[in-house]
Amino acid sequence: MRIDLFLAPGLADEQLLREKTVVVIDVLRASTTIVTALYNGAREIIPTTTIDSAARIASNLSSEVKLLGGERNGKVIDGFHLGNSPREYTPERVKGKTIVFTTTNGSQAVVKARYATATLICGLVNITAVQEQIQRVGGDLTILCAGREGGFSLEDTVCAGMLIQRVMEGRNEDAELSDGAVAARVIYRALGKVPLKLLRSTEHGKYLQEIGLGEDLPVCAAVDRTPVVPVLEENVLRLPREAAKAASVGG
Ligand code: MLT
Repeated sequence: MRIDLFLAPGLADEQLLREKTVVVIDVLRASTTIVTALYNGAREIIPTTTIDSAARIASNLSSEVKLLGGERNGKVIDGFHLGNSPREYTPERVKGKTIVFTTTNGSQAVVKARYATATLICGLVNITAVQEQIQRVGGDLTILCAGREGGFSLEDTVCAGMLIQRVMEGRNEDAELSDGAVAARVIYRALGKVPLKLLRSTEHGKYLQEIGLGEDLPVCAAVDRTPVVPVLEENVLRLPREAAKAASVGG
């Protein structure tokens, strides 16, 4: 098994991700929000890169079933129903809904992976579920960190390092790692033992606290809070059927 890691989305393009198994990580907060929304019964999430494309797609959906969600500068977009706080995506709000979703970095990274063989969404909240799925599917792995403003983000790198560590412990101790993957594992071991403390100390974590969204951090830091793995198929994120059934029973 080989594990490649792009530490920032600017380092990868659609062609490099084509026909790979890609895991997209945006701990603060798009991955966490996507996982939470689908676990809480959302039917599907359509990731888009721009506010205009989100509005265009939503205009073709019936108003009973659709929600527009996402952020710019961490804040709710004018005219949208929901921001990018996982706390907003409750079963009462999202059950049965199609959510058209655009965020600054996370949804861009997901769209970049649209030609991958499989695209999985990972945060700290579902890291064991992702690791188990990778284990089941086998083969090489490419991790794409959504990062911040096109560049590096510490929380995504630590999450990637934690995932690599767990994948290696689960019968892949001989995995061949790219330099980026080695670096993420080292950074995880150095800084990742107390996720909430880490999230509070990162640039984006500090920014979210400054704009009054600090309560999202414990939600995003809750390792393994949800047992589901959103998968991108034909540009739509859904849970595989069995997980969706279990989530709707639980939610
Ligand atoms: C993003 O996609 O850039 C993030 O999820 C930003 C955020 O809302 O915290």
